[in-house]
Amino acid sequence: MKTSISFLSSQYSFDKTIELINKSKADFIHVDVMDGLFVNNRTPFDKSMLDTLKNSRKPKEVHLMTLHLKKFIDVFSYIKPESIIYEFEATSDHNKLIKYIKSKEVKVGIAINPLTNIDLLIPYLKKINIILVMSVIPGYGGQKFLKETTERISYLEKIREEQDLHFVISVDGGISEDTIKSLKENKLDRIVAGSYVCKSANFDKQIEKLENVVK
Ligand code: DX5
Ligand code: ZN
Repeated sequence: MKTSISFLSSQYSFDKTIELINKSKADFIHVDVMDGLFVNNRTPFDKSMLDTLKNSRKPKEVHLMTLHLKKFIDVFSYIKPESIIYEFEATSDHNKLIKYIKSKEVKVGIAINPLTNIDLLIPYLKKINIILVMSVIPGYGGQKFLKETTERISYLEKIREEQDLHFVISVDGGISEDTIKSLKENKLDRIVAGSYVCKSANFDKQIEKLENVVK
């Protein structure tokens, strides 16, 4: 299982948090982007933050919780991410958007809201690389993990196996040593952890605690 760290709710400054993630054993930096439209919260990024991310050692996954997706894809392509993940509910033209992200030579991910039916993803599963199952309503860090997530991931795994597909399954929101226990039986490829890691004095210790539960 790979770990991706969201710096959205950290006890440290942006620069310090990125430095701590870079020094840690995390596999990815998870970049949460919010526009105040698709979600109420807004996460402004200036040029210097984009440069810090661009030059960071770890690969980045960009999680767009925005409308105006093309504009944000253009802006965040600059940091040379491994993947760009958009919210399924933010567009109706998935084929066009998937193509657009691929044109940036970046992997494509779709995030799905806890209230959206997983079956709606089926037509696109062949074309994408990552499904990010949201285990909280997108918008804020530090929310409570929704228990239904376990079943939703199992269902997605079943579809992946039956159709012999190879997309990565990741989960985002409310992950802690305690909540990750309910995902023990899932074949999770990746997890996103935010406050559990970034509100601690020792990032590696927290990551190891998560890894040990699913081992
Ligand atoms: C929620 C974000 C998540 C979240 C993760 O809208 O996409 O990435 O901030 O943070 P924690 O782990 O604190 O829920
Ligand atoms: Zn996220």
